[in-house]
Amino acid sequence: MAAVSVRDVARRAGVSVGTVSNVMNHPGKVAPPTVERVQAAIVELGFIRNDAARQLRVGRSKTIGLVVLDVRNPFFTDVARGAEDEAARAGLTVTLGNSDESTDREATYLDLFEQQRVHGVLISPYSDITERLRRLRDHGIRAVLVDRTSSDLSFSSVSVDDIAGGRLAVEHLIAQGRRRIAFVGGPMAIRQVSDRLEGARQAVATNPDVSLEVIEIDALSVIAGRAAGMQLLARSDARPDGIFAANDLVAMGVLQALMMQGAGVSVPGEIALIGYDDIDFASAAVVPLSSIRQPSSLMGRTAVTILLAEADDPDIEARQVVFQPELVVRASTRG
Ligand code: RIB
Repeated sequence: MAAVSVRDVARRAGVSVGTVSNVMNHPGKVAPPTVERVQAAIVELGFIRNDAARQLRVGRSKTIGLVVLDVRNPFFTDVARGAEDEAARAGLTVTLGNSDESTDREATYLDLFEQQRVHGVLISPYSDITERLRRLRDHGIRAVLVDRTSSDLSFSSVSVDDIAGGRLAVEHLIAQGRRRIAFVGGPMAIRQVSDRLEGARQAVATNPDVSLEVIEIDALSVIAGRAAGMQLLARSDARPDGIFAANDLVAMGVLQALMMQGAGVSVPGEIALIGYDDIDFASAAVVPLSSIRQPSSLMGRTAVTILLAEADDPDIEARQVVFQPELVVRASTRG
């Protein structure tokens, strides 16, 4: 089916092509009733602005759009690297977008990738974007969720069982003799975080002599982890003897606070600490960090493989690929 053109929209709305262009680029110059008529025509016809006319002639572009939650997190750069390697094998490139855990920025990138008519979209979603992904698919652009299973099973996903990962982390702390455990993570709106906490709760539930406190933070960052660590140091009594951080960046921040000059805390002697992701920095930390490894690069490669298969055959069955997490023990919990 030929792509809907600006001329089609103008005809449907009963205005000139120039008016349609003004509605899209300078709506303030157009009378509100006309803006509404043009926007209604755009929705009815499913018009998609296309910034690169050449791509209309050749259909989909040779670029895959990838939206990650936090481009500063080495986990996502590893995912992006795996995706890029697999895309290059197919003669495609990857455009990386950072939603920065913002619903608006996430929507902006999805609109941009639609305008660019990308070959397909990989996204680690922050909000519920199922409806938006359905509209993308209606316009011929497939999407695969990364690091999250899909609530709508008609979309494929590649993820890790984060509940199992959280359980693994806390069971390890318990096996190391820790009984007062703190979970440091947030925002809880991020499913990966809430799933890891759920796994931690499951591990504690089968160990009645173990307590679990939750220290919620507003970002999965080194800074937020450090602030949480400082908060724990300020408590002279009832400090946890084991900390599970929702990811390695948070764990690095907690470690920085605990190892601060004069803090007088030994890791793992007084407090054992485990993170999640097993990013490269984990093994290079001042006290090498135990972590729960995710096969990040493999996740990126697998997501591209699925996306390319679906782009070639839209009738192919959607798949939820779930990898299992792996415990990596280092000095921060050993002994
Ligand atoms: O960004 C949220 C977290 O979920 C990342 O650290 C990584 O663990 C992902 O799975």
